[in-house]
Amino acid sequence: MVDTARHDAWSSGDSYELYMGRWSRRIAERFLDLVAAKPGLDWVEVGCGTGALSSAILSRAAPARLTAVEPSAAFLATARAAISDPRASFVAGDAQALPLPDASADILTLGLVLNFIPDRAQALAEMRRVLRPGGRLAFYVWDYPGGGVGFIRAFWTAAVALDPGAAELTETGRFPFCTPEGLTEMVRSAGFRDITVTAITDAATFSDFADFWRPFTLGAGPAPGYCASLPEASREQLRQRLAAELSPGPDGAITLPLRAWAVQARI
Ligand SMILES: C[S@@+](CC[C@H](N)C(=O)[O-])C[C@H]1O[C@@H](n2cnc3c(N)ncnc32)[C@H](O)[C@@H]1O
Repeated sequence: MVDTARHDAWSSGDSYELYMGRWSRRIAERFLDLVAAKPGLDWVEVGCGTGALSSAILSRAAPARLTAVEPSAAFLATARAAISDPRASFVAGDAQALPLPDASADILTLGLVLNFIPDRAQALAEMRRVLRPGGRLAFYVWDYPGGGVGFIRAFWTAAVALDPGAAELTETGRFPFCTPEGLTEMVRSAGFRDITVTAITDAATFSDFADFWRPFTLGAGPAPGYCASLPEASREQLRQRLAAELSPGPDGAITLPLRAWAVQARI
């Protein structure tokens, strides 16, 4: 079987921040406004990465406690170094076998994670186990099928034109279920109810082409992992193609759309 996840490199916190963390932080704030959780809840976050959503929870949602789980040791180190709030604890672990007691969370959340988990049904069963009766599941994923991450779509369009074999690696192909219908069905099948899916739209503005391109060269995430795996000459060809295809504004800035689906449900 082809391993389409072979370039999913969750390994350098600083590189990830530049590639995705800076955009995830913006979506996280909008997401928490939508969730409007009451203060004093026990939160669990799965796949906290470098802490983009964790820090937003701490600053906006007044949790009693936040337990954040993450399998990447490098990302955990970045999150722990950035966040010293005594309400937060960061734990090594996997969504498919959460290292947490039964019925210990009022609200369980994930930011840009669910699609990357190999066995999502098992992970959702684990989330149900950890939530208290009446507890809430709330997460967001990019609208990959709808081109909701403009900079990733631009990257893969150019990459696949030069290397048709890369088509199997695109998030659009890998995560076709990231639609309101697909996400509702996945969460419903896992036994959740009162499911809502809401769009969060934004835009990513890069100050110039170098700001757009550099994160792809740093190897953190699927597209950067692929980019870093290319021989130097192929990477340069890809860079030139993207530079020719993207349309900067008069000030040199490049603005591309962002859209995430925010999913909320209860047990
Ligand atoms: C796109 S990043 C999102 C990180 C962070 N939540 C954010 O919003 O920036 C995907 C994250 O999912 C994590 N991840 C991948 N597989 C996972 C699994 N099986 N269980 C838990 N987390 C996982 C990765 O380590 C990475 O931190």
